[in-house]
Amino acid sequence: ERGRLLFAAPVEFLKGVVAMSGLPPADRIEVCFAGRSNVGKSSLINALTGRKNLARASNTPGRTQEINFFTTKDGPYLVDLPGYGFAQAPVAVVAKWQALLKNYLSGRPTLRRVFVLIDSRHGIKKVDDEILSLLDRSAVTFQVVLTKLDKINAKDRTAVIEQVKGALAKHPAAYPEIVITSSEKGEGIETLRAIIAGLE
Ligand code: GTP
Ligand code: MG
Repeated sequence: ERGRLLFAAPVEFLKGVVAMSGLPPADRIEVCFAGRSNVGKSSLINALTGRKNLARASNTPGRTQEINFFTTKDGPYLVDLPGYGFAQAPVAVVAKWQALLKNYLSGRPTLRRVFVLIDSRHGIKKVDDEILSLLDRSAVTFQVVLTKLDKINAKDRTAVIEQVKGALAKHPAAYPEIVITSSEKGEGIETLRAIIAGLE
């Protein structure tokens, strides 16, 4: 119910940020969406907000290149992050992104939850595990969100959930509940809205 209320009001794009100095004032809490390139971060924000093109989604990995802030009415910022693990850009550019991501994930006092998105077809890869380790060392709570569930069958669904649970056993700081989603079909979207609306 709270989730429905929070997302009933229009969510707006505030700004895109390329350096820590550009972050908006830390005057409210925020949640962010992290994950490998193409995992479905921008699509998930669009599904949550019910707006098709609010966050730019694309089949081209590396679409989101800035830290994009979206405002909810009287609620947290929603933050769309550039994907990690995408090496098609010049080395110097990749290094700059990685540094910004790491600084943001470990040094933002108002960051209440990091949703780490995992493509249900791929499960947790080495690069995801590195991000989970980084988050272990930061003070922020993080939670795994499986994406693109519409792309796999029931058997593979069970398998990927088991793989994620196994990987999370090594990250005791992770929030234990895994959120299962399909931005395409709307699965899990209400659940995620309620989780976000419940944060303080
Ligand atoms: P970067 O910004 O490049 O890091 O990617 P991203 O994580 O923001 O991914 P994005 O939302 O742009 O989605 C990547 C591709 O996956 C797009 O072609 C989406 O349409 C597709 N996609 C995202 N979510 C889903 C889903 O739930 N189901 C299906 N079938 N496709 C999805
Ligand atoms: Mg994106």
